[in-house]
Amino acid sequence: MTGRPFRTALVGFGWINAQVWLPRLRAHRHFEVVGVYDPVLATRGRAAVGDHGLAPGSVADRLEDLLAHDLDLVVVGTPNHLHEQTAGTFLDAGVAALIEKPLCLSTDELGRLNARSWATGTPFQISRPSARRLDVDRLRSLVRQWCVGPVQVHAEWLRTSGVPRPGSWFTRRDQAGGGALIDLGWHLAEVTHGLLPDPRRTSLTAELAFPTADSAQSGARWRGDGPATDALDGPDASPDGAVFDVEPDGRLLAHYRDGSSLTLRAAWAADVDVDTTRVAVRGTGADGEECHLELVTTFGFSPNRVTHPVLRVRRGDRSRQWPVETVPGKEYDAQLDSTLSMLRRNLPWRAELQSSAAVLALLEDAYRVAGRPLVPEVPARAAGAVPC
Ligand SMILES: NC(=O)c1ccc[n+]([C@@H]2O[C@H](COP(=O)([O-])OP(=O)(O)OC[C@H]3O[C@@H](n4cnc5c(N)ncnc54)[C@H](O)[C@@H]3O)[C@@H](O)[C@H]2O)c1
Repeated sequence: MTGRPFRTALVGFGWINAQVWLPRLRAHRHFEVVGVYDPVLATRGRAAVGDHGLAPGSVADRLEDLLAHDLDLVVVGTPNHLHEQTAGTFLDAGVAALIEKPLCLSTDELGRLNARSWATGTPFQISRPSARRLDVDRLRSLVRQWCVGPVQVHAEWLRTSGVPRPGSWFTRRDQAGGGALIDLGWHLAEVTHGLLPDPRRTSLTAELAFPTADSAQSGARWRGDGPATDALDGPDASPDGAVFDVEPDGRLLAHYRDGSSLTLRAAWAADVDVDTTRVAVRGTGADGEECHLELVTTFGFSPNRVTHPVLRVRRGDRSRQWPVETVPGKEYDAQLDSTLSMLRRNLPWRAELQSSAAVLALLEDAYRVAGRPLVPEVPARAAGAVPC
């Protein structure tokens, strides 16, 4: 480390990079944003970066032009199907990458990224803010402290009306891979992976709902996303090409070798009063008494939040509560700190990646058993083969 800030480029200048990462990077004394690439900016929006405090000259015409900026880090915030090829370009050039979730869409893609990282000795990381929340961390330690043996984990993230831009790449299977289960479910899978004592899976089932005509009307307005501007007529493609062919609601059930189980449900539009994230764990204490731990909150930035988030534990007839994270977005600050540690080579980033590889395998397998694989042409992967 030379003492200068880490020179950072953003690839993709949509919601996550413009609203979440750029302000944090600009406020952080150890980072400097020196370049941006997004085809939309390059063709018609160059001046728009001025509103975000960037010089129009920082907008690159081509992805490769960013490499002229002597970069230390790239933040990949593109549609899901481009994560691998985008991050790979920078890893080949020795530039570390922070890749938005989902890390990529198949274990094969991750294997290729990993090979490119080994070839140049360059680290990469997936953004996993939810797993870095303080309340999630507390839940994890309470489970470890009190539960012996198998646990039954149930996690759900249900939004009232939160389809990200209906009709955009988010709702197209060929670009997003899947819908709510990969979008919100990825966060849940990262969080719950850390709660399972032995993550060796023995069985998996999954269900993916089909979109209805109503799905397209449930845009996440807090993102600035309204209902689809293109008419979406029915569950699939409309005559003008707007597509909604991913699940607005998905769930999976997994069993593990030690007797633990995991159920996940993620829904963009559900029958709930407020956007709710709930992670519940049932287990048994060393004294044989049943423990029930539950975190009820709202992950992410939606303003339509659980009013009194809570982390509570019940053992027999005794119950206790712990403080929870209440400031939306703090977990993204924690993510950036972790990225800084990766750049300083102080983070066991390959171990973290191993855990995210298991998350990828779980979701990849879930979509396959539900009959709608994330990447249709990927052949069946040998069970348990995780390349990290
Ligand atoms: N961690 C989180 O909480 C979180 C939240 C939202 C989105 N995400 C993830 O971030 C990624 C982007 O999501 P978003 O909400 O910003 O979507 P978005 O649609 O708002 O932005 C995506 C941007 O990528 C650009 N793009 C398209 N093709 C490109 C290319 N070839 N090269 C560079 N840019 C290209 C688009 O023009 C668009 O501006 C997704 O993978 C999504 O899953 C993560």
